[in-house]
Amino acid sequence: MAKKIIGIVAGRHNGNSEILVKEALMACEEQGMECRLINLFDYNIIPCTGCEGCTMQMGAIAQGQQKEYKGCVLKDKDDMDKIVNAVQTSDGLIIGCPTYDLAPSALYLKYAHRALAYEVSFRLEIGDLKKNPNLVGGLIAVGGSCHDWQSMALEVLGASMFTQSIQVVDQMMAIRNGRPGNVLLRDEQIAKAREIGLHVAEAVNTPVEERHWLGDPDEGMCPVCHSSLIYPGDPHWDGVEFPFECAVCGCGGDLVKGDDGKYKFVLDPVHGRDRDRNIDKARALHLEEIVQTRIEFFQQQDLVKEKYKKYKEKQFPAI
Ligand SMILES: Cc1cc2nc3c(=O)[nH]c(=O)nc-3n(C[C@H](O)[C@H](O)[C@H](O)COP(=O)(O)O)c2cc1C
Repeated sequence: MAKKIIGIVAGRHNGNSEILVKEALMACEEQGMECRLINLFDYNIIPCTGCEGCTMQMGAIAQGQQKEYKGCVLKDKDDMDKIVNAVQTSDGLIIGCPTYDLAPSALYLKYAHRALAYEVSFRLEIGDLKKNPNLVGGLIAVGGSCHDWQSMALEVLGASMFTQSIQVVDQMMAIRNGRPGNVLLRDEQIAKAREIGLHVAEAVNTPVEERHWLGDPDEGMCPVCHSSLIYPGDPHWDGVEFPFECAVCGCGGDLVKGDDGKYKFVLDPVHGRDRDRNIDKARALHLEEIVQTRIEFFQQQDLVKEKYKKYKEKQFPAI
């Protein structure tokens, strides 16, 4: 049976993101893959209401207080369930997303935040999902500017991948594309999109345990997820702390200046991947954190009620 690749575009119809994703998908098609493409502009996606219904249920199941996970409260109200099912029954996913205000556009974020109700490691942990779908991903961020004005684009796209346990094998930042079709003047970007398609196809045809990063080995700072964002670590909820951490995958280590004068992010040889969000078990620890925070909160309801008064009673005029 042909392997299935799905493209998700969050940019304009016939825009730069769509062109690049189509190029990547055409390469997959030439490798015998069955390809589909959806543009999020064509679907109804209601923003996450913040009700926490998904994690409340997951926490209750983890604590043995509930049996079955019923999913997002908006499940039957829009197209999100259909989209996630299409993704999770595919073998590979290629995202094309415009950068707005340094990061992925709101349309993409709306999709990504709703997809959190389908968090793969949490659902595996509570037995709602029997098997990791083990998808492979390719990321394409598209902006009018260079890296300086797209500084969180690939990183936020990357964050939306680990929550679905999707292993990113290549990525690109398409720079200096403003008007729709601008990217047609950039042969090297079209060629890179094609390469991403080929890399996704190659990884899909590789056994899960042998899959690995196929992009430029020097891409980004993090040796695990290739993000460029490394920041000084702070203590986590359970006291774990690293000198520096990757903002995307959470791997820990230190910044070390090499003989070439360049800084490298070197993982702690023992604990560096303890918090690697690409690993389902490590990520599922976050469900434990959510449950612990909630237990502390519910144990102090009298105090919360008393302190709430001041804020509930105080009103400011809206506009
Ligand atoms: C509201 C808005 C904000 C934008 N912000 C950025 C930005 O911060 N950095 C950047 O490089 N490009 C920015 N752009 C440019 C788009 O990323 C660019 O036009 C891109 O090619 C759009 O992709 P599309 O053709 O697939 O829709 C912005 C565009 C819009 C409409």
